[in-house]
Amino acid sequence: MSTPLNIALLGAGRIGQVHARTIAYRVASARLAAVADVNTAAAEACAAQYRIPKASADPLQLINDPGIDAVLICTTTDTHANFIEAAARAGKHIFCEKPVAMTLAEIDRALAAVDKAGVQLQIGFNRRFDANFARARQAVVSGEIGKPAMLHIISRDPAPPPLAYVKISGGLFIDMAIHDFDIARFLSGSEVDEVYAHADVTVDPAIGEAGDIDTAVTLLRFKNGVIGTIDNCRRASYGYDQRVEVFGSAGAIQTGNVHPNVATLSDGASVRQDLPLNFFMQRYTEAYASEIEQFVAAINAKQPVPVNGQDGRAAFVIALAAQRSVAERRPVRISEIQ
Ligand SMILES: NC(=O)c1ccc[n+]([C@@H]2O[C@H](COP(=O)([O-])OP(=O)(O)OC[C@H]3O[C@@H](n4cnc5c(N)ncnc54)[C@H](O)[C@@H]3O)[C@@H](O)[C@H]2O)c1
Repeated sequence: MSTPLNIALLGAGRIGQVHARTIAYRVASARLAAVADVNTAAAEACAAQYRIPKASADPLQLINDPGIDAVLICTTTDTHANFIEAAARAGKHIFCEKPVAMTLAEIDRALAAVDKAGVQLQIGFNRRFDANFARARQAVVSGEIGKPAMLHIISRDPAPPPLAYVKISGGLFIDMAIHDFDIARFLSGSEVDEVYAHADVTVDPAIGEAGDIDTAVTLLRFKNGVIGTIDNCRRASYGYDQRVEVFGSAGAIQTGNVHPNVATLSDGASVRQDLPLNFFMQRYTEAYASEIEQFVAAINAKQPVPVNGQDGRAAFVIALAAQRSVAERRPVRISEIQ
């Protein structure tokens, strides 16, 4: 067997640990050689748990280590662009969590550095790797549903994040709906032409006071003629609500929520099943593992990664258009943003 890909994990928080687990237990062709986190206790705990030989407080030290082949950027979003640039300059392949950065200027700078260095950059749009969404995409690509005409995405979180997070998140469109903008492109097979979003605060007035919204409906018009809707909310009392439907000239494909079991309980009052898996860590466990497996496989095979920096940029541009649409109460063309 060839030498495993030596990966450095940058950021040992929530999502960093998910990816550490995948590499430790599921990917034989890669090894975590080092982990960095400004929170040294977090880096050391992660190193101990996943038997990573080196823990550091300094991502740049690992990025510039000649023994490292690739980095996983799982630090907070405001740090992504600088780490992408540094890793590209050092000739390292990169997996970076979404969103790529907080501004289009930073994203463009980071993507230019990646292009110049000729390294690969995969963005953490994990939902593409979910078996349900992948099957919906297959139905579109194979022609099983004919020519797609409409696309509906329901994407609601079980509960809002802490207010401190809301304040630095970039807002619902950039932080949360960005996944849906990516899935919309993935399922429609087309770029978005125009965005018309309506949004409000229906969950928590404090979110509004922090300058954000918690409820939104976004209408998308795609270049191939497909019309799409995305329905987002920061709170669904019954858990994580993640459904899509693509409707076409020859049929439709729908995907429902994923439940912890398939049991149905019937009694004198109702027929019911347990609530859907509660949030992204449970619902997308398999998708998170699969995206990392495919990143490593692509790098080892010298093949293009399945989701690249331009995908990260395109979803971000749709988020900016949605923000502007809400602010100016009008449809916004994508061409107005880039
Ligand atoms: N794809 C997904 O579904 C998904 C899910 C959750 C988070 N994310 C993204 O992943 C990123 C991290 O989110 P999280 O929830 O794991 O956050 P987190 O706060 O749990 O973890 C971030 C970690 O990065 C560390 N860090 C921050 N700045 C650093 C720096 N300059 N150098 C080294 N370490 C630094 C922090 O100490 C922390 O341990 C965010 O960009 C977020 O948007 C993506």
